[in-house]
Amino acid sequence: MTREKPKNLWRSRWGFILAATGSAVGLGNIWKFPYITGEYGGGAFVLMYLACILAIGIPVMMTEIALGRRGRGSPIDAIGRVVRENGGNPLWKVVGGMGMLCGFLILSFYVVVAGWAFAYTWKMLDGSLAATSVEALGGVFEAHNADPWQLGGWSVLVALLTLWIVAKGVQQGVERSVRWMMPGLAVMLLALVGYALSSGSFRAGFDFLFHFDASKITGEALLAALGHAFFTLSLASGAILTYGSYIPDGQSIARTAFLVAICDTCVALLAGLAIFPIIFANGMNPSAGPGLIFISLPLAFQQMPFGTAFGVLFFAMVSIAALTSAIGMIEATVAYLNEKHGISRFKGAVASGSVLLVISLLAMLSFNLMSDWTPLGKNFFDWLDYLTSRWMMPLGGIFMAILAGYVLRSEIMRDELGLAPGGYALWLLMVRYVSPVLILMVFLHALGWLLFDPVMQWHWVLSFIMALAGLGEMKRARVRQVFLSR
Ligand code: PHE
Repeated sequence: MTREKPKNLWRSRWGFILAATGSAVGLGNIWKFPYITGEYGGGAFVLMYLACILAIGIPVMMTEIALGRRGRGSPIDAIGRVVRENGGNPLWKVVGGMGMLCGFLILSFYVVVAGWAFAYTWKMLDGSLAATSVEALGGVFEAHNADPWQLGGWSVLVALLTLWIVAKGVQQGVERSVRWMMPGLAVMLLALVGYALSSGSFRAGFDFLFHFDASKITGEALLAALGHAFFTLSLASGAILTYGSYIPDGQSIARTAFLVAICDTCVALLAGLAIFPIIFANGMNPSAGPGLIFISLPLAFQQMPFGTAFGVLFFAMVSIAALTSAIGMIEATVAYLNEKHGISRFKGAVASGSVLLVISLLAMLSFNLMSDWTPLGKNFFDWLDYLTSRWMMPLGGIFMAILAGYVLRSEIMRDELGLAPGGYALWLLMVRYVSPVLILMVFLHALGWLLFDPVMQWHWVLSFIMALAGLGEMKRARVRQVFLSR
């Protein structure tokens, strides 16, 4: 069977790396990572998050890139082609569809947060953040959200900008902006860490991030860490798979995935090192929730030399980082409409954008007019975040791992990943046993099986036996096959 010819390719080897890093590094690193680390108590959460990135995030990212490049298309088509090449069940396309839906749903609440970053760039300039206390800055944030026109206006602006760039085609918009933005963001964060070093509470912030307290390891925190690993690497949401489909043959997938994951993790840790010392120095509560950076950072900008200019630049950078992530969330949908149904990128962006605006309107209103509407204790914004990060992404991850690890003939992935035998065996171990078992355990816990309850310890034992059995089987069949066929 002849393989699909690529229609679009990145212009250089760096094209994918830049775009995938642009998609990965975003509000997840600068806004979400610090605030959920604060909520789940610091060091133990950071450790679980890092473990999830290594054991699940990187192998799943490699799988996703490989599926995209092998199938050369948007998630539904790419998975469909790879499965067809393998002679498998076309139902697997549903996994691609779920990923696209997930990216779309994420975007509908992401524009609200990105809107905060845009608004704060402006507010730094016009003096509305001149307050010098945590309470007053908290008030500014609340007032912003209480006004549906302000909140909505900025969010709609972000949505329109995103759609405009996607309509023009990702290569032009993304490749160019990410090239200078990533180094810029890194320099800003380093400067903020430098300021944090002088704030007097660097030690407290550092300890909070890296001090390991075993009692903070709970099933709930593990589920959050797992969900965040997926979110921050843009996995199972169509973005990486679609970008992967534009990679030229011959580029190393493993090296690329590691590079993207390392950049992403460094930005998150730098953001944490910049933010927590400022929070402790000003007597703020690290578990202040989604407003954490919008309340703490303006306070720091007030106190530092050239603070206003620095603050404007910082929020502008965060806004652009958010934009390069937002683009990836809807690229899969627009690419799908274009490739499959021949709808032009522009029309596709208008059509999907209209649906998007309706859903995100509900997300915007959950901070004001609809704030009382909290079915099962969460408002609409929180529901979107919860469903996508905690359920849809890990579920997509488990299915892709099963597809690559069990369903596809081994030559397909081996050929596409192009790894040395040892590397391939390690990848296979991860997607066959480690990722699915870990994700499943976390799910079972979330469904009420108390993972850490002494009565349920057998659960751990069972998983351990499964992993051992898996290892044994792999040693017998796979590894031998891998080595012999080289
Ligand atoms: N990874 C992005 C961030 O950390 C969010 C994202 C999720 C982007 C899914 C694309 C797809 O902000």
